Amino acid sequence: MSRWHARRKHVALPDELAINPLVFQENDEPIPRFRLREHGMNPDAAYQIVHDEIAMDGNARLNLATFVGTWMDPQADKLYAEAFDKNMIDKDEYPQTAAIEERCVRILADLWHSPEPHATMGVSTTGSSEACMLAGLALKRRWQKRQRAIGKSVAHPNIVFSSAVQVVWEKFANYWDVEPRYVPITPDKPFLTPDGVLGAVDENTIGVVPILGVTYTGVYEPVEAIAKALDDLEAKTGLDIPIHVDAASGGFIAPFLQPELIWDFRLPRVHSINASGHKYGLVYPGLGWIVWRQARNLPDDLVFRVSYLGGDMPTFALNFSRPGAQVLLQYYNFLRLGWSGYYAVQNASRDVARFLSHAISEMPMFELLSDGSDIPVFSWRMRSGYTDRWNLYDLSRQLRVYGWQVPAYPMPDDMSDVTIMRVVVRNGFSLDLAHLLLDDLKEAVGYLESLDGPMPHPQEPVSGFRH
Ligand SMILES: Cc1ncc(COP(=O)(O)O)c(C=O)c1O
Repeated sequence: MSRWHARRKHVALPDELAINPLVFQENDEPIPRFRLREHGMNPDAAYQIVHDEIAMDGNARLNLATFVGTWMDPQADKLYAEAFDKNMIDKDEYPQTAAIEERCVRILADLWHSPEPHATMGVSTTGSSEACMLAGLALKRRWQKRQRAIGKSVAHPNIVFSSAVQVVWEKFANYWDVEPRYVPITPDKPFLTPDGVLGAVDENTIGVVPILGVTYTGVYEPVEAIAKALDDLEAKTGLDIPIHVDAASGGFIAPFLQPELIWDFRLPRVHSINASGHKYGLVYPGLGWIVWRQARNLPDDLVFRVSYLGGDMPTFALNFSRPGAQVLLQYYNFLRLGWSGYYAVQNASRDVARFLSHAISEMPMFELLSDGSDIPVFSWRMRSGYTDRWNLYDLSRQLRVYGWQVPAYPMPDDMSDVTIMRVVVRNGFSLDLAHLLLDDLKEAVGYLESLDGPMPHPQEPVSGFRH
């Protein structure tokens, strides 16, 4: 059991690493855990030490908590190994990597219906978090310019999203001194609503951020209806408030599974969109994207110029140096899968999500909050009043006995009395694995139901899971 415990107890570890006597070392100098050793060691020994330690990490295939890619084709692995030394910022030394990044931006701008996919601005980032920071900065700078142009104060910017927003937006507001305005979610509507938005915005609102694929439940927030409400507000008051869509997960799902859904640059109010290449973009960790609707939606004075083939290349990023290999892997996937390949992969994940959510909805103790029809992520809660002998945290711990990581966690503020469980279906989580999970889930529930007393519930938080 303890092998699968997410939050390993902080036992007092000895200062020296224990070494397998079979591992060859040139000398018997102890290996301090927290200090640099006086002498180095041979590469095989160093490899073995790190290799052995990471063997204690979980099995990514059974981790149903993460959105992040854990499997790619062997050919992609080969490409990764050939390209892990490439520095994304060094556009002079790696001009073709730079050209491929540019091509990926064009492909995404086209996929998200930019009116000028060949000219608009976009960049790769380390993940959606960096992309969201860039989006927020662009919104803030645009608002400051507008306020100054009409002689108004720039002292109190605010940004509007639902209380189910991902933690990156809390960080953005904190780091860049913008007041976060959380529109409360409700059990009926656990997402951002047009009315909620209208109640929160004012002339100091730098932008509104709907999420395409809420992290807690996987549901899409209604971008088109929110845009329409803001259009009406502008018609009445002249207040022009832009939207940034946080499509961390949905940006690589909706174009394939819900092509008729209007959420992207088809709405002129949507100024920018981010997505995680390392989530449903199907690339290994370390890649996000942000694209602006048109070049003019990104204030020019945020853009820096770096040298590129003797000319200069515009960039907008928080980091300077950054690995370029993931960008090449994204392009590999674009070539390898094409539209129909992405459709097939995402559709298979959705089928698995729906199969599982349906089976879980038929268990008498559970009810669904979402069924995996938007992004292939679904969540459920205990029926209220079903039992106080065990809860979803107990079930989450019990599933770890079988190796599965299925998080239980409270909903955000406004619904924090509701605990849910969530499954993220990613490429590689096949229908076969889903059947195995279902069997184990039923067995775990059977075990908890069979206990003749209530499970002990410690006061300390039982889940280390964070969004
Ligand atoms: C809606 C949303 N936005 C932003 C992020 C942060 O993305 P990343 O992990 O790529 O930095 C996440 C991650 O789960 C997310 O779900």
